[in-house]
Amino acid sequence: MKSIPLPKQKNLRADCAWVIYQILEQGRSSRDVLARVQRRHNAKDNAWIQEMSLGVLRQVPLLQSWLRTLLDRPLKGDKKAIEHLIMLGLYQLTFTRVSEHAAVGETVNAASYLGGIKLKGLVNAILRNFTRQELASKPIEDPVIQSGMPKWLFKLIHQHYPDHAADILHNSNQPAPLWLRVNRHKTTLAAFCESLDALNVSYTCPDTHPDAVILTKRHEVTALPGFSQGWFAVQDGAAQLAAPFLSAQPGERILDCCAAPGGKTGHIIEQCSDLAQCVALDADDSRLARVKENMARLDHNPTVLCADASEPDTWWDGSYFDRILLDAPCSATGVIRRHPDIRWLRKPADIEALTQLQAKIFDAMWTVLKPGGTLVYATCSILPAENSEQVAQFLSRHPDAVWQPLKEGETEDAPGWQILPGEQQMDGFYYARLVKSTG
Ligand SMILES: C[S@@+](CC[C@H](N)C(=O)[O-])C[C@H]1O[C@@H](n2cnc3c(N)ncnc32)[C@H](O)[C@@H]1O
Repeated sequence: MKSIPLPKQKNLRADCAWVIYQILEQGRSSRDVLARVQRRHNAKDNAWIQEMSLGVLRQVPLLQSWLRTLLDRPLKGDKKAIEHLIMLGLYQLTFTRVSEHAAVGETVNAASYLGGIKLKGLVNAILRNFTRQELASKPIEDPVIQSGMPKWLFKLIHQHYPDHAADILHNSNQPAPLWLRVNRHKTTLAAFCESLDALNVSYTCPDTHPDAVILTKRHEVTALPGFSQGWFAVQDGAAQLAAPFLSAQPGERILDCCAAPGGKTGHIIEQCSDLAQCVALDADDSRLARVKENMARLDHNPTVLCADASEPDTWWDGSYFDRILLDAPCSATGVIRRHPDIRWLRKPADIEALTQLQAKIFDAMWTVLKPGGTLVYATCSILPAENSEQVAQFLSRHPDAVWQPLKEGETEDAPGWQILPGEQQMDGFYYARLVKSTG
């Protein structure tokens, strides 16, 4: 699909439609395209653009089914973004409190900003027909449309989780809560909570996580107490389990493999201040820049290394690591509630490519782990091919790997702990812990 430029002049709805076009037709990530658009709006408008674009991404099958009913022929070429604008109009009319008058009038007006001045009449007719025909109140029979997921992923989730599919699909469409991790090097949970109380910020502290705070109302993170002083990091509860599972000890050499943007690196250092070394390795230089920024704010000082983890010959100095966290590149199917674009960016063929890359990095990590050392394998995926099946195959390839269950109920056929999206308010995540035998 042809790339279209960002509209010359800013307009809330035209910019939203451009964001949706870039994600659905150009396969670009919401983070990148939102950042591009949000440079030219104020904070309130940015929040609106984000909420609307991500909302549309959660309802693509439904909005497209309405579009097919209402539009005689699909729009093509540089007019395609007008379809996304219409989807945004339908979304406003169905799922938001935007008045009908504004949803129709302002959406029609936005067509001019997308080069669709001649299509304003069409946009107007479609949105008005939609309300006249009361399409939003007609029951939706198709479960794939109800789920808001692409068909292949809907099927995979049902295949692997026949008993939990409905919950997974439901939870993957709920906005994720904001979890914070208190930086023990800078403050304590109690002191941080006092500072939140002083600002009347509502939050809870889950019993399951010793350093965590969950905000119960939306709040601008940078305006929270101690942001610039590094008192806390934003990190989901599932991700906050990695460092405790790794359990780094004083004097050890730790490798955080696939570390960027450094969420878990910071926690590893906070859990054990007198490590011999913590290496944060990632293949992506631009993402490593974010590791450096995040570590500087939290006042941590890991060794940052840009390298391909699957090729240790190109970067390893020959000195073994005592513990390795391998937070492998994955489908990210566990964090769709946080990044609704993932369901459209991932394609079925990606899963096979990812499992091969994971296996390659996994094997490479085993060669740099010292005998007696611990490796924690993690992904934010809910697909067994990337998780329990990946670890089971690793165990069959490496007789010196001893699997250490993290949770009751793990079996040799399905090792590791699979957290499903929404479980204890956490993202979908997977962990397995292995020890390299000395014999
Ligand atoms: C799930 S993210 C890591 C998240 C990170 N651990 C955190 O907690 O903030 C996966 C990372 O793997 C990196 N990656 C992908 N292939 C890699 C490779 N061959 N070698 C090293 N890093 C790789 C990506 O750049 C990406 O940053």
